[in-house]
Amino acid sequence: MPIEELENRKKAEKAEVTQYFNETGFERWNRIYSSSDDVNRVQRNIRIGHQKTINDVLSWVNESNNINEINFCDAGCGVGSICIPLSLMGAGSIVASDISQSMIEETKKRAVTEGVNMNKLSFLTSDLESLNGSFHTVICLDVFIHYPQDAAEDMVRHLCNLTENRLIVSFAPYTPLLAILKKIGQAFPGPSKTTRAYTLREKGIIKAAEACGFKLKRRKLNKAPFYFSQLLELQKI
Ligand SMILES: C[S@@+](CC[C@H](N)C(=O)[O-])C[C@H]1O[C@@H](n2cnc3c(N)ncnc32)[C@H](O)[C@@H]1O
Repeated sequence: MPIEELENRKKAEKAEVTQYFNETGFERWNRIYSSSDDVNRVQRNIRIGHQKTINDVLSWVNESNNINEINFCDAGCGVGSICIPLSLMGAGSIVASDISQSMIEETKKRAVTEGVNMNKLSFLTSDLESLNGSFHTVICLDVFIHYPQDAAEDMVRHLCNLTENRLIVSFAPYTPLLAILKKIGQAFPGPSKTTRAYTLREKGIIKAAEACGFKLKRRKLNKAPFYFSQLLELQKI
């Protein structure tokens, strides 16, 4: 595909993702990432699976004995499912960013309700590409679903450049079974309620981080019906 066409396609996809997470997607994910009973079976299972990812990250970070000296970036923070408990655990400081203004507003609202020290939590409406700065730990959970393999690997390199010590990412892993199910779905398309979703090859993600001087410290596959997420902790060497 010619470069110009590719760039236009990327821009169109990003505009679609931004609109989705400001409108119907916000409404949907805000309910999933809450204790609301107003969820269907699929959404309830996504909630259960996602909570496993959150719990793992919190327990990995909790191993640091100097959490109050660590500055974090929560890239693609959604409604604050990781930055809020991290703040409550005493994180030194956190920048929470998201492409969606609605998500940022909800994170702020929830943080205030939970009694977070708002001097230590700051907010940025921004896409991952525009993030800059330097953070001890960068966390990016379940955001890469909107990135095809090459773009996700570029994004890993970008996030590595912002990371002084530890990068924690999660994404839907490519598996032959999921690929077949996706193909079947494409052959019988119904009305789409969501954005385009990509599964990623873990090897490529790890290689991209290794090229930036990181090594895999640990990994965990979190599953629930309708939720499948590979969590990686990458340590700067
Ligand atoms: C499925 S939610 C996950 C939220 C959060 N990381 C969590 O695990 O609770 C995906 C989030 O990524 C955000 N997002 C999608 N594409 C993005 C991009 N290019 N840059 C920044 N945020 C993005 C969406 O607005 C949404 O809040």
